[in-house]
Amino acid sequence: MSYEFITIHTEADKVGVITLNRPKQLNALNAGLMVELGQALKDFDANEAIGCMVITGSEKAFAAGADIGAMATYSFADVYKNDYITRDWETIRSIRKPVIAAVSGFALGGGCELAMMCDFIIAADNAKFGQPEIKLGIIPGAGGTQRLPRAVGKSKAMDLALTGRMMDATEAERAGLVSRVVPLDKLMEETLGAALMICGYSQIAAMAAKESVNRAFEGTLADGVMFERRLFHALFATADQKEGMDAFVNKRPADFKHQ
Ligand code: HXC
Repeated sequence: MSYEFITIHTEADKVGVITLNRPKQLNALNAGLMVELGQALKDFDANEAIGCMVITGSEKAFAAGADIGAMATYSFADVYKNDYITRDWETIRSIRKPVIAAVSGFALGGGCELAMMCDFIIAADNAKFGQPEIKLGIIPGAGGTQRLPRAVGKSKAMDLALTGRMMDATEAERAGLVSRVVPLDKLMEETLGAALMICGYSQIAAMAAKESVNRAFEGTLADGVMFERRLFHALFATADQKEGMDAFVNKRPADFKHQ
């Protein structure tokens, strides 16, 4: 499949890498890009050989937000009834294998929201995060007002959403938005290292871990703990659990078959 707004490749036949590719527009997220991103994610998710996905952008921009030029003349009917802007933004939520955001440069507005929809964010030291929608007379529309406070707390989320200021990678790591900050020239090496590490584990366990951590953001603690318990117990029905524990007991590397 050939794409216009993204490029895709695999690393070691195990990691599906998606690169947002509208460099002149700082990877502004238009409808076509979001359709292609969703399609690429679904294809990698359905591919047995792929254990993890990475979404990345250019050195200058992960993505500078939804495409402002495209949105500028939309009416309420266009965006509410016809769902022109948000229509294809939810696909990533249906992806069951882990997805890592490798962020360098600007991750603003919808770009920050897209990064937050990934399972975790590894940032280059030049990364800048923000929700500057207020400067355009709007608010975040792809989960920014919900995921950002869960990640960084109310005060910083309010600060970013109300002032529209950017935070750098150091501040983003301190606030808990990103899991690691690395030098720009090490971003892909570090991210692919993490992705390949995940691919070496049981795919079933990785999917269960993702599902269970995501559940932490949905309901009560008691419900979440019960959900985790059920998945934890279910993993004892997998061959991978037998393999992983036998390998440990017998002091040998595990060879997971994802079954
Ligand atoms: C369309 C964009 C864009 C965007 C940048 N460009 N961001 N085009 N939509 N979001 C374009 C510029 O128009 C310019 O095109 C080119 O990319 C380079 O940008 P410059 O501004 O010249 O670069 P620079 O001076 O380095 O400034 C970088 C920047 C600035 C700080 C990131 O571009 C900026 O503030 N961009 C807008 C950020 C933003 O407001 N994002 C939120 C959008 S609303 P030309 O043709 O002039 O070279 C949103 C809602 C989400 O995301 C809703 C989700 C459902």
